[in-house]
Amino acid sequence: MTQSDLTILSNREIATSVYEMKLGGNTISIARPGQFIDLKLDGFFLRRPFSVCDLENDVLTIIYKVVGRGTEHMSSLTAGSVLDALIGLGNGYETSTSGASPLLIGGGAGVPPLFMLAKALVSQGKSVTAVLGFNTAEDVFYKGEFEGICSRVIITTADGSCGIRGLVTDALTEAGDYSYVYTCGPEQMLKAVWSKINTSGQFSFEERMGCGFGACMGCSCETLCGAKRICSDGPVLYKEEIKWPTPA
Ligand SMILES: Cc1cc2nc3c(=O)[nH]c(=O)nc-3n(C[C@H](O)[C@H](O)[C@H](O)COP(=O)(O)OP(=O)(O)OC[C@H]3O[C@@H](n4cnc5c(N)ncnc54)[C@H](O)[C@@H]3O)c2cc1C
Ligand code: FES
Repeated sequence: MTQSDLTILSNREIATSVYEMKLGGNTISIARPGQFIDLKLDGFFLRRPFSVCDLENDVLTIIYKVVGRGTEHMSSLTAGSVLDALIGLGNGYETSTSGASPLLIGGGAGVPPLFMLAKALVSQGKSVTAVLGFNTAEDVFYKGEFEGICSRVIITTADGSCGIRGLVTDALTEAGDYSYVYTCGPEQMLKAVWSKINTSGQFSFEERMGCGFGACMGCSCETLCGAKRICSDGPVLYKEEIKWPTPA
């Protein structure tokens, strides 16, 4: 983990209340897809964590949904503003376990880390299928970007206004055979994916956090391998170690 002052290069709305922010600066401690950064925002005590969506030539991209005062403040920031960031946080996804045809499953604000993951897997010669779930067509983002690199992209929307009507788990038959699963999204979605897939996989949790780097125990959770801090031992957990608070 390092502290870095990142300069906003662009900040634009790409779907309803969803923004893409590009940041420039020292990103050297980001080693793996699935890691996250923690942004200090003026007037807010706690930092706000966001997954790294892309990293190209020291330009780091995050995609965030406006859900409260912190993200509302972020949406008003313009190019040239500087943000204090802790970067290279979390364990990230391990790509060596993927097999030849991994399936990526993302829901809403859980879609961003899968983009950098898809790029890494494709660069290793893997055939990647992505299932991306949203509520409605106006919420869909990065469809074209994923289609540019993945072998196949399946969109689901809860109201059927784009792609398959339903949840990401309703697209598993359509996705066909796969060698491994990587996923990120709301806990209920992760739980549904966990109970439906027929391979091993890695699950990224977007738990509420305090410090973001392992010091406060605020994100501690029970796993079958003992207590883990989602911020530093995660956010990615293996399917086999997850212990759901209520049975799946
Ligand atoms: C490792 C990690 C990676 C993340 N990556 C992304 C990302 O790529 N894109 C993105 O849009 N969001 C991401 N999040 C969630 C993001 O951090 C929160 O949405 C953000 O901090 C909310 O700040 P706020 O001040 O706007 O909202 P707050 O005022 O803090 O909260 C507003 C509402 O959002 C809910 N909320 C806040 N934080 C979370 C959370 N972590 N999970 C679920 N609900 C929450 C609150 O319960 C409340 O209802 C990630 C979270 C983690 C832990
Ligand atoms: S948020 Fe402090 S230990 Fe995880």
